[in-house]
Amino acid sequence: MKMANTKALKWGIIGAGIIAQKIAEALQLDANSQLWAVASKTPAKAKKFAERNGAEHAYSYQEIVDSREVDIIYVATTHNFHFENAKLALQHGKHVLLEKPFTVNARQARELVRLAREKNLFLMEAIWVRFLPSIKLLKKKIQNNAIGDVKVFNISFGGFVETRFAERLKDPFLAGGVTLDMGIYPISFVCYLLGELPMEIKSMTRFSDLGVDEISNYMFRFPSGCLTNICTSYNLKMRNEAMIYGTRGFIEFPQFQAGERFAISTHEGTNKISDTVEVVEKNHSNGFIYQVEEVVRCIQEGKLESAIIPLEETIGIMEVMDKMRDEWGFRYPFE
Ligand SMILES: NC(=O)c1ccc[n+]([C@@H]2O[C@H](COP(=O)([O-])OP(=O)(O)OC[C@H]3O[C@@H](n4cnc5c(N)ncnc54)[C@H](OP(=O)(O)O)[C@@H]3O)[C@@H](O)[C@H]2O)c1
Repeated sequence: MKMANTKALKWGIIGAGIIAQKIAEALQLDANSQLWAVASKTPAKAKKFAERNGAEHAYSYQEIVDSREVDIIYVATTHNFHFENAKLALQHGKHVLLEKPFTVNARQARELVRLAREKNLFLMEAIWVRFLPSIKLLKKKIQNNAIGDVKVFNISFGGFVETRFAERLKDPFLAGGVTLDMGIYPISFVCYLLGELPMEIKSMTRFSDLGVDEISNYMFRFPSGCLTNICTSYNLKMRNEAMIYGTRGFIEFPQFQAGERFAISTHEGTNKISDTVEVVEKNHSNGFIYQVEEVVRCIQEGKLESAIIPLEETIGIMEVMDKMRDEWGFRYPFE
């Protein structure tokens, strides 16, 4: 196990669940981080999690935000709780890393951003894939004109949900549904690679028996003129790939969303492919480490947000998802 340095950021986790475990393991890899405490609604769960991951304390939610030692809270609860948990942490002067989707709707997102700015605290949505070396390289290739002007994204991202995630995805009271849970990834991917938010949005969905969106299709037009087709589902096996088409070629990105290899094919503005190059960029086996490093770097430098995932973009993406849910007449029971 690594030795944490004396100035290591002390992390607290709210929600002792599945993804919290991944972050706890990533924190152990980072010398500038220390998992200090974990909080759960179930004390025995917090205790077990703390023991398993070497955290000093197992707390209730109130105790963890009251702790003078904790610098930053990572919120890893189900979507319906994100707003209240993050708000509690910010109100108690803690920086916050908030799991995706940031909140259930844009109104909540704006409120958290306002609060963080008022209190001078760091706040970020945990879209971990943005920080992967392979995704950063993909963005660089696009920026460096590898396929000319990007005109179209075609993305499929779906599969039959694993049992351990099923309750969370299917339950409207937990703010389940494929858009907030999975669709957010391809939406965020496209916005990140293009560096802009969509200006025109069309979408369709199929609802599950329990009344959440189960298979969803999104079509966007961006200010640059780029068009996007995204299909996502938690109840249908898909190819999980992104195809990116530009004026001088295309990129095949299989293993969406955290793939390490992609192929760039180029042409001279005709149908004849002149070259295809395979690009491979390895990511750490615990891909969450890069996100942890970014949070630590930002806080150490006194930054209140990450330039890789700015808060205005997070709000913008929540607005996109609000607009689509409006189109479908889809409200969560507690909204
Ligand atoms: N970055 C990624 O790749 C990734 C992957 C999976 C999930 N996520 C995100 O991470 C967050 C948590 O997902 P998860 O799969 O880790 O969730 P989970 O293990 O099912 O639950 C996380 C925590 O939420 C609370 N919770 C769960 N079900 C509840 C219920 N029925 N009633 C009340 N509280 C409940 C519990 O908090 P307590 O311990 O306090 O009781 C639980 O420990 C979500 O925002 C999800 O979208 C991200």
